[in-house]
Amino acid sequence: MGVMMLLLLGCELTGKALGCKEGERLGQLNVKAAFNFPNGTALPTWRADKEDCCQWERINCSNIRNTMQVTKLQLSGLPQPRSLDAGALFPSGLCELASLETLSISGNELAGSIPRCLFNMTTLHTLDLSYNHFGGAIPPSLFSSLKLLESLSLSGNAFEGSFSFSSLLVLFCLSNCIPSSRHGFVPSFLMEQHDLEVFELFNCRLEGQLPSWLLENNTNLGYFNLMGSSFSGHFSLNSSLTNYNMWLIDVASNSLEGELPSYFSYVFPNLGDLNVSRNSMQGRIPSSLCHSPTASNLRMLDLSTNRFIGELPEKLMRCEILGILILANNNLRGQVLPRVANLSLLTYLSLSDNQFYGEISTGLLNSPSLSFLDMSSNNLSGVIPDWIGDLQELSVLSLADNSIEGTLPLSFCKLQKLEFLNLAGNDIGPSIPSCVNVSALKHLHLERMNLKGSLPQFLQAASSIVTLSLSSNALSGGIPSWIGSLSTLRVLLLAGNSFEGLMPQELCQLHNISIMDLSHNHLSGRIPSYFNKLAFGSSQVPDGTFTISGYGFTWAVVFSFPYVSTPQEGGDAVEVLFTSKHRLESYGGRVLPVMSGLDLSCNNLSGSIPLQLGNLSDIRSLNLSYNHLSGSIPVTISNLDQIECLDLSHNNLSGEIPQRLIELYRLSTFSVAYNNLSGRTPEPKYQFATFFRESYEGNSFLCGWQLGNCRSSGGLPLTPPPAEHQEDIFRTAFRWSFAGSYAMAFIGTVFTLCLSSYFWTLFFDFVYRHIPSSCAFIDRLFPMH
Ligand SMILES: *[C@@H]1O[C@H](CO)[C@@H](O)[C@H](O)[C@H]1NC(C)=O
Ligand SMILES: *[C@@H]1O[C@H](CO)[C@@H](O)[C@H](O)[C@H]1NC(C)=O
Ligand SMILES: *[C@@H]1O[C@H](CO)[C@@H](O)[C@H](O)[C@H]1NC(C)=O
Ligand SMILES: *[C@@H]1O[C@H](CO)[C@@H](O)[C@H](O)[C@H]1NC(C)=O
Ligand SMILES: *[C@@H]1O[C@H](CO)[C@@H](O)[C@H](O)[C@H]1NC(C)=O
Ligand SMILES: *[C@@H]1O[C@H](CO)[C@@H](O)[C@H](O)[C@H]1NC(C)=O
Ligand SMILES: *[C@@H]1O[C@H](CO)[C@@H](O)[C@H](O)[C@H]1NC(C)=O
Ligand SMILES: *[C@@H]1O[C@H](CO)[C@@H](O)[C@H](O)[C@H]1NC(C)=O
Ligand SMILES: *[C@@H]1O[C@H](CO)[C@@H](O)[C@H](O)[C@H]1NC(C)=O
Ligand SMILES: *[C@@H]1O[C@H](CO)[C@@H](O)[C@H](O)[C@H]1NC(C)=O
Ligand SMILES: *[C@@H]1O[C@H](CO)[C@@H](O)[C@H](O)[C@H]1NC(C)=O
Ligand SMILES: *[C@@H]1O[C@H](CO)[C@@H](O)[C@H](O)[C@H]1NC(C)=O
Repeated sequence: MGVMMLLLLGCELTGKALGCKEGERLGQLNVKAAFNFPNGTALPTWRADKEDCCQWERINCSNIRNTMQVTKLQLSGLPQPRSLDAGALFPSGLCELASLETLSISGNELAGSIPRCLFNMTTLHTLDLSYNHFGGAIPPSLFSSLKLLESLSLSGNAFEGSFSFSSLLVLFCLSNCIPSSRHGFVPSFLMEQHDLEVFELFNCRLEGQLPSWLLENNTNLGYFNLMGSSFSGHFSLNSSLTNYNMWLIDVASNSLEGELPSYFSYVFPNLGDLNVSRNSMQGRIPSSLCHSPTASNLRMLDLSTNRFIGELPEKLMRCEILGILILANNNLRGQVLPRVANLSLLTYLSLSDNQFYGEISTGLLNSPSLSFLDMSSNNLSGVIPDWIGDLQELSVLSLADNSIEGTLPLSFCKLQKLEFLNLAGNDIGPSIPSCVNVSALKHLHLERMNLKGSLPQFLQAASSIVTLSLSSNALSGGIPSWIGSLSTLRVLLLAGNSFEGLMPQELCQLHNISIMDLSHNHLSGRIPSYFNKLAFGSSQVPDGTFTISGYGFTWAVVFSFPYVSTPQEGGDAVEVLFTSKHRLESYGGRVLPVMSGLDLSCNNLSGSIPLQLGNLSDIRSLNLSYNHLSGSIPVTISNLDQIECLDLSHNNLSGEIPQRLIELYRLSTFSVAYNNLSGRTPEPKYQFATFFRESYEGNSFLCGWQLGNCRSSGGLPLTPPPAEHQEDIFRTAFRWSFAGSYAMAFIGTVFTLCLSSYFWTLFFDFVYRHIPSSCAFIDRLFPMH
């Protein structure tokens, strides 16, 4: 009998030690049932007939007091069709796990308040509830009972109220909190924290004074991230403080003012990354940011988009391991880089939109690994130095919008890695050395320069080129037929030159072209019918993306254009002004795949509009205005389903306007003014209810309610579209109707293209709001030499 007992006991013990506890197992099956999507296929290895839940996916066990117990559960990101009440998951589910140390259930659409039983999970040291829909107040006693908690992530929820806990050590992360406390809106419990090592309040929209006291009260803090809140005030620190642990401070995108304290780097001697960008900081850049050039750990400094003044401090210019320096969009002056500069590890330098002046200085030569150099929109003068060819790692070079003059030095041809070159808006010319190595080149912007002669032939070797802009120069001659060999081209901008002759047949080999602007030239002859072979948006070619690596950073530079911002909530804000001028940073967005247009306006084209243009079913903008086109408007134009801008004005078109045009439901800008059209204007239905006199005037034989000249049954009332859907179209289109043209971020000139996608979500940043109403107007934007 005794032997039997022992044996049984032994069996039981071993059984337990092998598998997980029954209570935990059943609890997990309840969790699975709660998720139960789709159709019970979530967590397939969690099966009632598989006894040992330690073997199930996303679960880890440890042997605690001779029993295997679940200590780690990683349930983030399970697909959920709709929000799930947390109450279904915790009691008699997760809360059965008495020894859980790590619980991650982020991104699971969980809703409700924090379940009470979580208070009892006293062994937790890592808790990640982020990106769910938890709401309500966080019970104060929660964190006092979770004494071992080291890492807590609550971001992306809707918690409210203030709360406190005692021994948080590592991560604090909140979002959407509306706390109240003595210190502005920062939760008051933070007053009692002294052992924080990582502090992160990411995109919290908190207001009030910058909580500098957190830095003073937590001398072990190593990582301090308050990016994207609305903190104001100054950096005020007790200068006798020293924190050797701090390696990252990110206070970007707040409303901070005042100066950066001069003792900053004495307080944080080991600081590696400092991001203060997008604030309203003033004053000079403290020279002590790199208190001792050789002992400093500063690798990344981003002070862009502030109001810093003065010259680049000498000490900073010798900061030995500085790899990334971003000072764009300030009021800085002086030489770039000063002669004393010895930033030998610098790979990324952005100084655009400042007031740097003088010649490009040899200080740059001590940074041989520079691969990104943006000095655009400054007041630089002189010539491009001969030694530029020694910066062999350069893959991005922008000197746009300065006063640089002369010719490109021959040594420029030594740069073999150039992928992006922007010299626009300088007095550089009249030609580019033909030895320039264009084999890696993807984006070339040479507009508004002093280029003369024919289209540079060496470009023929640019086998990866995506964007070619030579607008607003004095180039002449014909458009060469080799242009057809640039098969990767997506954007071709040759507007505002003196190109003449016929458009070559080879243009039709540019299958993947999305945007072609040949306006404001002297092109003559007919519009080739083969344009229907071009994609104009129907091919999806990835944007030019490439990465720059260096010194522990990998920088993804995405080139696509123009800048697209995400829609604002409610979708009412039509105008989102450009945040930046013509800088590289503006090249965000995913727009290239959806943007397409052909602009042949202001040339000497004659003949009729080819029927085949109606095959460009993905084109968004077609501008043929200011030519000598004759014949009638082909009815095939009404096949351009995606078109948003159609300008045929100032030609010699005759005949009637095809009534089927009213089927162009996306049209927001339309003009046939100043032709010889006759008959009636299209019925005022759908989009055509939004086009008024300006769209039709200057056609003596045209009659319509807009023109008020129809003799019989004239003056048709403006019929609002009947259905709700159409109502929307109408209203949206009305909002978009001003959207005749905009400046593309990277060229700063106007391309008359509009692109609304009005029932989709993209908004553009309009700079110019009105359709250029004459060639003369446009000529001011495309000054010719
Ligand atoms: C789930 O079950 C329903 C009906 O039983 C079925 O229509 C649906 O296709 C199933 N979904 C999946 C993903 O199996
Ligand atoms: C946890 O379990 C998973 C499998 O479920 C396994 O891949 C992983 O290595 C385990 N982790 C630890 C720390 O044991
Ligand atoms: C927490 O545990 C205590 C006893 O250990 C128990 O009385 C209490 O009901 C538990 N609370 C919850 C919410 O489960
Ligand atoms: C630091 O913490 C204490 C409470 O421990 C608090 O009284 C004080 O205001 C906090 N801030 C500073 C700057 O000391
Ligand atoms: C700064 O800190 C020192 C010592 O830590 C203290 O004596 C001094 O009062 C503090 N100064 C201020 C302005 O808080
Ligand atoms: C600094 O912060 C801004 C805003 O969050 C961000 O866009 C930028 O990339 C950051 N700079 C660096 C060098 O990471
Ligand atoms: C620049 O710094 C490097 C070390 O980072 C040093 O070897 C070199 O001598 C310095 N050059 C000048 C001109 O000071
Ligand atoms: C630009 O530099 C020139 C001299 O090179 C100077 O005359 C001019 O005032 C400067 N412009 C600005 C805006 O600083
Ligand atoms: C251009 O650069 C590539 C490397 O990007 C190199 O292979 C090629 O030889 C260079 N061409 C000339 C003409 O120097
Ligand atoms: C043009 O686009 C097509 C897809 O639409 C793609 O397969 C092809 O590679 C692209 N051609 C070039 C030269 O990029
Ligand atoms: C315009 O084209 C016609 C032929 O189509 C030609 O006779 C005329 O000279 C051209 N005008 C100009 C200014 O190029
Ligand atoms: C162009 O469209 C017409 C109909 O409008 C069609 O018959 C023709 O096949 C199309 N051509 C091409 C190349 O798609």
